[in-house]
Parts: sequence; C-alpha cells; structure tokens
Amino acid sequence: VSIHDQKPHRGNGGELHQFAEDGAEVLTTSQGTPVADDQNSLRVGARGPLIVDDFHFREKIFHFDHERIPERVVHARGYGAHGFFETYESLAAYTRADIFQRAGERTPAFVRFSTVAGNKGSFDLARDVRGFAVKMYTQEGNWDLVGNNIPVFFIQDAIRFPDIIHAVKPEPDRAFPQAQSAHDTFWDFISLTPESMHMIMWVMSDRAIPRSFRFMEGFGVHTFRLVNAKDESTFVKFHWKPKLGLQSVVWNEAVKINGADPDFHRRDLWQSIQSGNFPEWELCVQLFDQDFADSFDFDVLDPTKIIPEEIAPVKPIGRLVLDRMPDNFFAETEQVAFMTQNVPPGIDFSNDPLLQGRNFSYLDTQLKRLGGPNFTHLPINAPKCPFQHFQQDGHMAMRNPVGRINYQPNSFGEGPRESRELGYRHFASSEEGGKVRLRPESFADHYSQARQFYISQTEPEQRHIAAALTFELSKVETPVIRERMVAHLLNIDESLAKTVADKLGFQTMPKAADAAMPTRQDLAPSPALSIVEK
Ligand code: HEM
Repeated sequence: VSIHDQKPHRGNGGELHQFAEDGAEVLTTSQGTPVADDQNSLRVGARGPLIVDDFHFREKIFHFDHERIPERVVHARGYGAHGFFETYESLAAYTRADIFQRAGERTPAFVRFSTVAGNKGSFDLARDVRGFAVKMYTQEGNWDLVGNNIPVFFIQDAIRFPDIIHAVKPEPDRAFPQAQSAHDTFWDFISLTPESMHMIMWVMSDRAIPRSFRFMEGFGVHTFRLVNAKDESTFVKFHWKPKLGLQSVVWNEAVKINGADPDFHRRDLWQSIQSGNFPEWELCVQLFDQDFADSFDFDVLDPTKIIPEEIAPVKPIGRLVLDRMPDNFFAETEQVAFMTQNVPPGIDFSNDPLLQGRNFSYLDTQLKRLGGPNFTHLPINAPKCPFQHFQQDGHMAMRNPVGRINYQPNSFGEGPRESRELGYRHFASSEEGGKVRLRPESFADHYSQARQFYISQTEPEQRHIAAALTFELSKVETPVIRERMVAHLLNIDESLAKTVADKLGFQTMPKAADAAMPTRQDLAPSPALSIVEK
C-alpha cells in the first residue's frame, strides 16, 4: 500500500459514512464513535468541574500528549521527497543487483536531506555536513544509500562516533551552541583528532553552506563492493552529481538567510517540486579492483580518504528524480528509517570499520526512535516488492503470519523457504589475524588529502576556508585548542596556517602537529586545558 493511497485519519473505505448537517463527514473518535461537540468538554453545570466520563476529551488529549517521538540523535532536522531511480545500462558484469540489470528500469525512491548537528527546529543554513539518504525500493528489497554531501568523514572507526557527536552538539551544562560547530568542545575534539583534518577542510569550505539541496552532491563515503552472479567482487564508491551543478552561498548570506527564513532549504525543495521543477542527480560510480586498491599508500577502507577521480573515473550509471512531496511530513519524512545494512543481493560491504559500526548502529537506533521492532510495517519503510517471513507480534504489529505455520522447516509444505540461488550471499572475503584493537599503519596519513583538497580550491574558495577557520576558532575561548588547530594547519598548508594565526592575533607560531593521536599522558600536563568559564 503506498502511503499516497492511504488516508489514515479517514475510514478504511466501504463502510457507511455519516454526514453532518452541512454535508461534511461526521467527526469521530479514533474508535469510530461520532462526536457531537468537539469544542466543549463535559462538565457539571456550565461552571462546574470536568467529568472523567468524557471519553472523547480524554482520548483527544491523550493522543495529543503522545504526538512527539524522539528526534533522531543526529540528522534530526531533515526534509524528504519521493521520486524514482532510473538505470542507464545493465551492470550485470559487476553486480547481480536486480536494480542494475535492465536499462531504463525505474525504481521508486525516497530521499531525506538533513543537517547533522542541529535539533529538529534548527535553521537550514548552519555550517554543517548535509545528510543525503536515499531509500530505493528495489525488487529485491530496500537499498538504503545513507550518505552525506561530503565524500569523507571525521573519524576512521565507529567507536569514536559518540565522542564526535557529543563534542559537536550543544555543550551539556549550558545546552548551547545550537546547530553550529563554532565552540570549544567541537574544536577541542577536532584538534585532538588528526584523522579529521581532511573532513575539516571540506566542512570549512563552501560545501558546508549549500545554496539548496538541489545544488548538492551526495556520496556513499565508504568503499562498498559490487558482487556479480559469479560471486566476483569489484570495489565501488557511490557519488550523486546534481544536474543543476554545485552551488553554495557565502557565510554572510548564510547568516542573513538563517535570520530571515530558517526554512530556506525546505521551502526551496517544496516550491521547486510543487511547481514541476523536479531536481535530478546522476548516480555515478568509481569501480576498482584489489590490485588497484593495493597501489595506493592510503587504505581504501579508510573513510577519511577519497579515490582520486583522475585515475578512477566517475562513471554515471543512472539518475534520481524527485517529483513528489510527501502527503504527510511526520508519516513519511520523520518515520522513514534509513539503515546502511539495507542492501540487496549484489551490493556488499567492505571492511571499512566506520561502515561496519554503522551497520550495527542504525537498526538499534530505529528500534528506539520508532518504538519497537515493527517499524517496517510503516508504509514508508515497507518494501515494495513481495516479502514473506515468520516474524510476528511485538508492539503495533500490523502484519502477522497468516494461518497455522509460523516456523520452518515444517511438514505442511507451507510458508516461504530460503534460496541459495536468489538469496543474499555475503561476499566471502578472507581475513587473517587474531583479535586486536589496532588502527592499521595504512590509515596513518591524515594530511596529504587535506592539502590536496585545499590546493584544488580556487583563490576565492581558499579565502572562504581561511575566513571560516578564523571565524570558528575566534569563538574558541581555550587558547591551547586554537594553537593545536594552527599546528595541524601547518601540516596542511603553511600560508593557510599563517593567515589564520595572524587573524587570530598569534604572537608566535606553534610547532607543526604530530600526526599521532595524542595520548592521555601527552595531554595531562597542559594547564591550559582547564575549562575556561564562559
Ligand atoms: C543518521 C549519514 C556515520 C549513526 C544518519 C543520517 C544520515 C547519516 C544521512 C540521516 C538519515 C535520515 O535522513 O533519516 C552518515 C554518514 C556517516 C555516518 C555518511 C559516515 C560516513 C555514522 C556512524 C554512526 C551513525 C559512524 C554510529 C556508529 C547514526 C544514527 C542516525 C544517523 C544513530 C540516526 C538515525 C535515525 O534515527 O533515523 N546518518 N552517518 N552514523 N546516523 Fe549516520
């Protein structure tokens, strides 16, 4: 059932509708009881106390009291739209995924764009990473490509995710700043995390203040695998390229827009789709094999790195068109549950430790946010292909196995069965080594790609990065954090470091930073680290 066809607050169809005097449908309680008076609660006499018999009043208030669900722990502010994905040509040589077998095949899709740090009511033009999450309802189950508008990430291992998010979100004692990174705890964490330097260059660039969702790129970030019918694997990076090109605002504009219209990005998407101006992106891939992967001095499993496009060309394989706004923001955009682990046969994970951590995290967070294990019963999350399994019961179960048999194997010839041929087969990669908690040496170069990004920018773009760093660090009140950041910048680009240091009023330049993550011992003696009261 498409959410479009559902009228959840109306009758289920077929039954007798009653009509009020003026011809409108009669208002009912959610139990279907017709309501005589929705304006006045039941009381003893005109000025008397209210009466608990008033089931309509109680139901109305009870339902209202429970309207809010937890906002997403990250990416709370978002906006979504429906559309479709169209495959350009068969990719059967690389993947058995049904979505990529036939040229011209159209697959329904739902996309949610978001900011990361701000809460649900924050403003659209915060300097922040944008989420670019795409759910494709393929014939072999939902494929969620849960990406961002920046191709790399802050950290190399998911175990650090709670720390970076704690550091970027409002500080716990004062509960601000809201929806911006310009504060001590964020920059403290960043300055202690050399692996974040490449991402930081992107976040300080114009990419982090896009003109609208329609002018943003999207990236799957991690290296994934495509696996063909012969179980052969090819590494893949996914990119979304906007047909309208890439555009950003400048900081001065962002600040004004946030004040004048905090819903600027929402309004833009709504208006363009409602007026038939459908935004479009091309899905592109970079494909490479193990030998190619081994030829780099960085690791393709490291999500802080990009694969250079000059040597692994970005090949368009299809297009995404957004052509319909949700009927109901809550039912669709709020309740959509993206999960990196949603992949169809023919698309598989690499051993990127950030991706593998995410594959654990998203199921867990949806259980909490959507209130139990049956969130796939919500129309926005349900597959649009046939599906059958033996899962049952739990809160809000709307679909249960039909008949007597809810297990397998069974002797009654009933119910679905596994299929080795059609089913999902995880790629059999061979790993070696015992259990360790180690970061490989191949993840150790944190500056080269940050430098390459910086020097690839035009002169005005470089000025914007310097200005963003200066503005952000000028809000940092703990001197040692500013110094540590300039020490990192020295490893990225000396003139950038000097410009920022000058503007921040440094008397002397610090030494270039050590690329290793600081240990507790390194940090302990620094008296400057004591928290400065604001
Ligand atoms: C939500 C992207 C890393 C946990 C999201 C969303 C996006 C996203 C786009 C919003 C989904 C929506 O619109 O509903 C990314 C990217 C990452 C990354 C690109 C790194 C490359 C992580 C990591 C974790 C994580 C490492 C945890 C280990 C979450 C959680 C949510 C979320 C808990 C909230 C989901 C919800 O409530 O719907 N992420 N994320 N993410 N992400 Fe990530």
